[in-house]
Amino acid sequence: MNDLRLRVFPDPVLRDKTKPVSVFDESLKDLVADLVRVMHTEDGVGLAAPQVGVSLKLAVIFHEGVLHVLINPCVTSSEGEQSGEEGCLSFPGIYGTVVRPEKITLTCRDINGNEVTSEVSGFLARAFLHEMDHLEGKLLIDHFSPLKRSMARKKLLRNGSEPVEKRRGRKK
Ligand code: NI
Repeated sequence: MNDLRLRVFPDPVLRDKTKPVSVFDESLKDLVADLVRVMHTEDGVGLAAPQVGVSLKLAVIFHEGVLHVLINPCVTSSEGEQSGEEGCLSFPGIYGTVVRPEKITLTCRDINGNEVTSEVSGFLARAFLHEMDHLEGKLLIDHFSPLKRSMARKKLLRNGSEPVEKRRGRKK
């Protein structure tokens, strides 16, 4: 079992570039199991690897009793638009409205490395896209207006954590 802990903003690992998963072995299965464990412990709907300090293109989502594992996900087409409220385990207590496509088609690898294509819409499309943002170092507050973003950042930094992101400059 990997010793993974949830990383909260402004932990710089949340902004780091992720690498594609290239080895499909037992350790990948262990990592997926660990991600699922942390997601359930933290009572989240989804969790991306960078949120536990692992810079890989990997995320898990649990919705309506089904576990979705996204490995090297890539959106190939999208249509429509939906607007809804989102939160994030790395931004405790912060919520905001985010506009996303209504429906997406994506390709991923399965746990054995085979390419799979899927189509999702509504809530699941929103959840997938939120996790895929994490894999690009894009975070919930990046979807907010500058004012709301600044308020959210202040709220989170008030707890005495160092404003790492401000010092480093905003990176994508
Ligand atoms: Ni998130």
